[in-house]
Amino acid sequence: MNYIEEVQKIKREKNAIVLAHSYQNIEIDSVADYVGDSLFLSQKAKETNADIIVFAGVYFMAQTAKILNPDKKVILPNIKKAGCEMADMIDLQQLREFKNKYPDIPVICYINSTAEVKSECDICCTSSNAVEIVASLKAPKVLFVPDKNLGRWVEKQLGNVEVITYDGYCPIHNNFAPAGIKETRFKHSDAIVLAHPECREEFLDEADFVGSTTGIMNYVKNSNDNKFIIATEQGVVDRLKRDYPSKQFYNIYDKPSLCQSMKLNTITDIYNALKDETPEIKVDDDTAQKAIKCINRMLEVSK
Ligand code: 13P
Ligand code: SF4
Repeated sequence: MNYIEEVQKIKREKNAIVLAHSYQNIEIDSVADYVGDSLFLSQKAKETNADIIVFAGVYFMAQTAKILNPDKKVILPNIKKAGCEMADMIDLQQLREFKNKYPDIPVICYINSTAEVKSECDICCTSSNAVEIVASLKAPKVLFVPDKNLGRWVEKQLGNVEVITYDGYCPIHNNFAPAGIKETRFKHSDAIVLAHPECREEFLDEADFVGSTTGIMNYVKNSNDNKFIIATEQGVVDRLKRDYPSKQFYNIYDKPSLCQSMKLNTITDIYNALKDETPEIKVDDDTAQKAIKCINRMLEVSK
């Protein structure tokens, strides 16, 4: 069976779309309607007229799409395993304890968080709009969960807001060590270092550009340079190599970094998910009604 053709056929028959994050296995792009970063995919999930959304990504992304589309079917092909380690570092109880420690301060949650966490935060953000979102609150002090690295980076960009961060992080990005930049730059001289803001502060200090997955890809698109060291998950590196065959892309220490949860989906999984319309994401009404305010507030700021 030609799974790509079959997926396209079922999508038409069932009025379904496939949203794919740019960390997915690259072959997923051949069946995806949209490929991009978390913000772009949330915007597409909000706009869509499809009846079924298959999310090729991780749990919090599909959950966000479901919250935005309570009457649509949202399917995450590998529902049991496709978690985000950073999102799972804070639950509702831990969020409440954190808020109690710093009362009366606005709370921003990174979109990499559960629906329950979103339901008790003021606004959410993604890596591409975090600076804009924090600035939009016009507060001298904010709480930021769960990513301490992104929170610290935002604080440095703004300079006039104190960002009190929760102690969460992405194990993949947190693993990049500043020594890795020096060594990799030495091997590939003149290469420009592009890094995701989930990397550690000391690492970001050494990078030439910091941006979301789409930010990194746009930097390459608009640059006349030809050699880049990419400090994020391998999906971005694979897509850059595909899209810019005349340019050179290197990993830190020349070793790819993989987010295992992001790498679960295959085209066969997407075919089965569309055919059987399962496994479906469900969010209880009370949580969803509170969480949608936090997500919509972000989408209002980032139009
Ligand atoms: P983006 O918002 O840049 O797509 O990042 C999502 C993510 O999970 C990065 O690890
Ligand atoms: Fe979560 Fe990190 Fe994977 Fe992104 S790369 S989905 S933050 S574990």
